[in-house]
Amino acid sequence: MTVNEAYLIYFSPTHTSKQVAEAIVHGTGIKNILPINVTQQIADEIVIPASALAVIVVPVYGGHVAPLAMERLRYIRGVDTPTVLVVVYGNRAYEKALMELDAFAIPHGLKVIAGATFIGEHSYSTDKHPIAVGRP
Ligand SMILES: Cc1cc2nc3c(=O)[nH]c(=O)nc-3n(C[C@H](O)[C@H](O)[C@H](O)COP(=O)(O)O)c2cc1C
Repeated sequence: MTVNEAYLIYFSPTHTSKQVAEAIVHGTGIKNILPINVTQQIADEIVIPASALAVIVVPVYGGHVAPLAMERLRYIRGVDTPTVLVVVYGNRAYEKALMELDAFAIPHGLKVIAGATFIGEHSYSTDKHPIAVGRP
């Protein structure tokens, strides 16, 4: 089956998860990109078709998927839609965040085909206390 559109779904208050999401989708070569930015609002009810790729990228807070991100994804569904799951963390630890995202995806009809963790600059990084500056 040819996948010719990608849903770029992200929660990204300090823009790192957004950058990672965009780079991944860009790398697939898919031209038709449909962004769903849940940083400031909940996603509308949507069923992503099986002919599309879903890429979901969220940050890790306290070793979990950022709770607000989890909440704002809740009306997104698929129909065995191929889905890539990514958690972005600030070089401390991602603990079980990727598993949490996986536990969300499966009952929502999203068929997980890949998962990844990326290090991004920590939101609390400062000149005095740098953490993963400039990453990814
Ligand atoms: C409230 C809060 C909690 C965080 N907890 C963790 C953590 O447990 N482990 C970690 O490695 N990074 C942690 N981070 C860092 C973020 O995961 C990291 O900065 C990420 O790149 C932020 O994504 P964004 O730029 O898309 O908002 C935390 C950041 C915030 C704001």
